[in-house]
Amino acid sequence: MNYLSPSILSADFMHLQKDIDETVSAGCDWLHIDVMDGVFVPSISYGMPILKQINEHTDTFLDVHLMITEPGRYVQEFIDIGANLITVHFEASHNIKNAIHQITSEGARAGLAINPETSVEAVFPYLKDIDMLLIMTVRPGFGGQKYLDVCTPKIKKAADYIRENNLKTKLEVDGGINFDNLPMVLDAGANVIVAGSSIFRGDIADNTKRMLEIMGR
Ligand code: DX5
Ligand code: ZN
Repeated sequence: MNYLSPSILSADFMHLQKDIDETVSAGCDWLHIDVMDGVFVPSISYGMPILKQINEHTDTFLDVHLMITEPGRYVQEFIDIGANLITVHFEASHNIKNAIHQITSEGARAGLAINPETSVEAVFPYLKDIDMLLIMTVRPGFGGQKYLDVCTPKIKKAADYIRENNLKTKLEVDGGINFDNLPMVLDAGANVIVAGSSIFRGDIADNTKRMLEIMGR
């Protein structure tokens, strides 16, 4: 089973409800919500009020990607307002184990993300305790960047480790995924696909259906 998680960072915020409805009606599985604090990454995006309203409007699974320093400070609040899965960055916390525990003990699913520079082996010890590994395929902080080819071997290594150890950990890729490189990342072993500009630029319903078709859905 694979999942498509459109990143609303590339949506039209003046028509966010319409954009979300279009991708959900076209069959997307999840919604990817990128939260940035201007410290862990150079940019600032959006936070709690936006997530709260999205949750009130849709039943879709909410995949919240926290690009913030010491994310444990905000985990409880994000769960309270509707996050189903919270992904924290390996590089963002002094006590990543604790942040993961905070998420799972509150009944949400936990994800762990790594930046392009971080080796995938560094997070192998955590994989049994998390629901999803997110491999960043661009530098975090902005939508619309080009996929970094150096990340493909990391996807393969993670997929091999997960299979060899009989783990259920999902493998998400995020950044620069388009119609052309989607088959390659699926082939490498990714099973949760984040796409921002490839979904929200142009015809949203058509883009969603086209991605799902490539994913064999
Ligand atoms: C980047 C974000 C991504 C971004 C992806 O820091 O984590 O989720 O929205 O956008 P595209 O698909 O346009 O690269
Ligand atoms: Zn993201």
